[in-house]
Amino acid sequence: MRDFERRNQHFDRLVNSQGLRWLGQNTNHMPAHPAVRDALVKSIDDEEYHVYAPPAGLEELRALILADLGLDAVTTIVTDGAIAALYHTVHSLLDPGDELVTTDPTWAWPMAFAQSVGASVVQIPIYGDEHGFRLAPQRLAQHVTEKTKIVYLVDPNNPLGCCCTPEEIEQIATIARDAGAYLIHDCTYRDFAYEHTLAARFYPERTITIWSFSKWLGFAGLRIGSLTAEPGLVEQLAKAPPNNLGSNIVAQRGAIAGLKVKAEWFPDVLATTRDNQAMIVETVADIEGLRVPVTPSNGNFLIVECVDAGVAPEAVCAALAKHNVMVRQGAYHTKTFGDRFIKISTTTPRQWVDELCEFLPGAIDEARNSSGDFDLF
Ligand SMILES: Cc1ncc(COP(=O)(O)O)c(C=O)c1O
Repeated sequence: MRDFERRNQHFDRLVNSQGLRWLGQNTNHMPAHPAVRDALVKSIDDEEYHVYAPPAGLEELRALILADLGLDAVTTIVTDGAIAALYHTVHSLLDPGDELVTTDPTWAWPMAFAQSVGASVVQIPIYGDEHGFRLAPQRLAQHVTEKTKIVYLVDPNNPLGCCCTPEEIEQIATIARDAGAYLIHDCTYRDFAYEHTLAARFYPERTITIWSFSKWLGFAGLRIGSLTAEPGLVEQLAKAPPNNLGSNIVAQRGAIAGLKVKAEWFPDVLATTRDNQAMIVETVADIEGLRVPVTPSNGNFLIVECVDAGVAPEAVCAALAKHNVMVRQGAYHTKTFGDRFIKISTTTPRQWVDELCEFLPGAIDEARNSSGDFDLF
């Protein structure tokens, strides 16, 4: 069977698994605010989906996105999720022979997008105590060359949960500017950070701020994100975007409602996310060989290092899967460090995390004694 078929069948099995505990994809499983649900239902009841949405997104949504980001002198277009914004930006700005610089670990898909246009990828290792599990700006400076066309910064970092300080962001922006490179600031998880600084504040000319509605609002299946940059750059990117016929109009109505109730609704979601993380940290502390190296996490997930327990992350995932709990193997994010950790996402009902914590010690024991091939993606 072809790889894409195997991968698809894997995710098809997951979405059709009754009662699966989704603790692996940083998706948000908290109940929607009634106003968001109502907006989605109203759009469907009104049968609005017969029309194409405006190519750059509903004006009300665009204005709300800009207000939320709080950036001046930029504009925004709505995309089919952050991933489509990343795909389009990388494809539009890179030529064969160019270089994209990012961290290791990072979110891997933009690297595949860069390679698919003949560009090369440079990864700066940030995993490990020697790096403090974060990117020191001077290490970025060391890796930038005249070929560097894009710096791809996932901040907060998925999977690590580290987040750049305002000083670091300013330095990273300066390094990108000095190199004449675009800075893609992937802020998919910014709402979960203790403090988050947008690089566009320091480098408005060539920073592309990419944001998602999948994580904070829980719209992963609805596919909505945004791309925000200086108007000339957006004009260039808006010439031939893949969603030129507009993004999902039902999702956009829900996103508008979501932004309007965000201040009221999201703090509880964040509190639950952080309580869930604390519960996992406590449980992990009692299991020999495990540790949570980055805590508190600035994302809605954390990594649990299991290399010292002598277990393969895939074996832990497989053992938890038997209890209908999905967590992610590190190899999804990084070839170099993927054998060291699993990632657990935490914007979920408390009960799911209680169950995870109950099953985790047994899953580690089972993983110690297991050998085998795991078909995980
Ligand atoms: C860093 C990062 N960027 C982008 C995405 C994709 O977001 P979206 O669902 O909006 O396409 C993800 C999804 O996990 C992510 O982790």
